[in-house]
Amino acid sequence: MKTALSTPWISSRLRRRFGAPEEQGRQGILTLLRDEWRSPGAIDREGEDEQPEGMLRDLEERTERNRRLVIPWLDAARRLAGAKILEVGCGTGCGVIPLAEQGAEVTGVDLRDDSLRVAEARLAAQHLSARLMNVDAQTLSTHFAGESFDMILFWASLEHMTPAERIASLREAWDLLSSGGLLGVIDTPNRLWDFDAHASRLAFYHWLPSQIALPFAARSSRPSCRALADGDEESLCRYGRSVSFHEFALAIAPAESLQVVSGLDEFLRRRNLPRLFRRLLSSDRRYSGLIRRRCPQIHRAFFEESLQLLLRKP
Ligand SMILES: C[S@@+](CC[C@H](N)C(=O)[O-])C[C@H]1O[C@@H](n2cnc3c(N)ncnc32)[C@H](O)[C@@H]1O
Repeated sequence: MKTALSTPWISSRLRRRFGAPEEQGRQGILTLLRDEWRSPGAIDREGEDEQPEGMLRDLEERTERNRRLVIPWLDAARRLAGAKILEVGCGTGCGVIPLAEQGAEVTGVDLRDDSLRVAEARLAAQHLSARLMNVDAQTLSTHFAGESFDMILFWASLEHMTPAERIASLREAWDLLSSGGLLGVIDTPNRLWDFDAHASRLAFYHWLPSQIALPFAARSSRPSCRALADGDEESLCRYGRSVSFHEFALAIAPAESLQVVSGLDEFLRRRNLPRLFRRLLSSDRRYSGLIRRRCPQIHRAFFEESLQLLLRKP
């Protein structure tokens, strides 16, 4: 977690619903993580700590960050209490939990039963509920025929999908949104950015075709990324590969016509002066402006380091 200085103001209506797991439930989650940990790579992990305590700490920190930074943004665009929300690629529940805390009616889908089991245990440890299902994002319309959602979120998940999964799942999600509904992308590295802080931590890595990215992964400072050098294209995608406005244009509509209602980075900067000043003085701002000059008709949220934006369906 960053310091309190970078945390924007949060209304008491949202803050009083923030929760924490009961100690007994927490022990149950640790047992589950210990079991999963015996089968390497079984659980999505952002941190590098492979001990159950460290893994749980990572998950709790991500959940806390989501509560403080992402939830106020989503709620400003659409009141979360009572909203029908689908999270695609919900993993171990770092998004599902803070959404359920706010009284949203949440459905989370993921490919991995092991991650869904952890999400279930984490919800139970806070006496929360959500519908969790093992569903491939490419087949959303089959599983949710006849339903529609107010919000569909790809929260740190689109970048872990294969190119075909990305296009198919964005299309399916768009179809399942009610008119006026919001499609959200959060925490997804932008292919147009010149440095890959998400996966390889290498300059210009986002721009490499898979055949070059695979062997070049050996130059990463991250051991888990270096291991990709012996892998295949799918393992590269699963590890995390950036996304840009191009996928949205192919799946939904020309990027110029997409209605971006809000970008998270701009929302946070407007609510937090230190953030705004850091940005004004940064080279990121100049770089973002430079790449945007090529496509001035496309919303500026598509030119941030990460894609964190909400699209409204007409
Ligand atoms: C990094 S995790 C993010 C989990 C969660 N959204 C979060 O923010 O903690 C990415 C998740 O996307 C899931 N995923 C990848 N491809 C998928 C697909 N085609 N259908 C459903 N889930 C998928 C993975 O199994 C993984 O749990």
